[in-house]
Amino acid sequence: MTKPLVILTHPMPEDWIAPLKDEVRLVVGPANVAGVDPSLRPYFAEVEGLLTWLTDRVDEALLAQMPRLKVVSNLAVGVDNIDLEACSRRGIAVGHTPGVLTEAVADLTWALLLAVGRGIFTAAEDARRGRWGLWRPDAWLGTELHGATLGIMGMGQIGQAVARRGAAFGMRILYTSRTAKPEAEAALGAQRVPWETLLRESDFLSLHVPLTPQTRGLVNAEALRQMKPSAYLINMARGPVVVTDDLVQALESGWIAGAGLDVTDPEPLPPEHPLYRLPNCLITPHIGSATHTTRRRMTELAIANLLAGLQGRPLPHQANR
Ligand code: DGY
Repeated sequence: MTKPLVILTHPMPEDWIAPLKDEVRLVVGPANVAGVDPSLRPYFAEVEGLLTWLTDRVDEALLAQMPRLKVVSNLAVGVDNIDLEACSRRGIAVGHTPGVLTEAVADLTWALLLAVGRGIFTAAEDARRGRWGLWRPDAWLGTELHGATLGIMGMGQIGQAVARRGAAFGMRILYTSRTAKPEAEAALGAQRVPWETLLRESDFLSLHVPLTPQTRGLVNAEALRQMKPSAYLINMARGPVVVTDDLVQALESGWIAGAGLDVTDPEPLPPEHPLYRLPNCLITPHIGSATHTTRRRMTELAIANLLAGLQGRPLPHQANR
């Protein structure tokens, strides 16, 4: 029997994708190209499985060219790059990778939170550049985490992992979420509050929502103006949850004290972007899940989703119905 044709949209380490090679005929797209490259078009008529990255747009126009497609397996927990409804209408299963990246993303949230709250990057840069004068009691002062309020927007698995770390640091935990999380409330003393309260009371506001029409542009000028001037914003979700120009204005005008961003709008953020020039903004290039262990696990899960979809079995993690 002929093995099904699968497109992996961009190259990945050989040993990560080795398990796929026995099961399918694999076509690999080019590196450093955002999206499903047109050079793959000759395979569209026959392809049954797509293994995509979060930089690949999968929409009606693409699906219409792939009449035999059974499954799209996204190497990410977020699926905002995929038109889920269009896939469902065509009976195409969409897989994603929740769970396996939770702790890695929560760790990086904490790295950014500590870095901006204690001004680690500016202090380290000052030391490196010879600006480390005699010790003074009032130099490089940061924000104490113990007793501060951590506001979590989006209390899914990652939000809860961030909350656990916050509780260990002795922080007061507030959260806003579509559904209440009684376990987090009981275990961590977390308190569910309206979005406006979260904005007003958080010393650190950490975003962990998926990008949807409801969350796009959620953190705009109006929201930023409600935050404390001493507060920090951490975005680990998706860039467009925050209105970039409004954030620049907030950081320049002192509406908030600083920001740590692992995601931006656009991505990649061009080197000349004003956000890079702001000393109170720290940007990492979407590396929340980038540990050796987690990226391997994400790949294993994406392959398991893909093979299940090709074989007509339920996906271990399916994002659509
Ligand atoms: C995701 O999985 O959605 C992250 O943004 C990348 O790991």
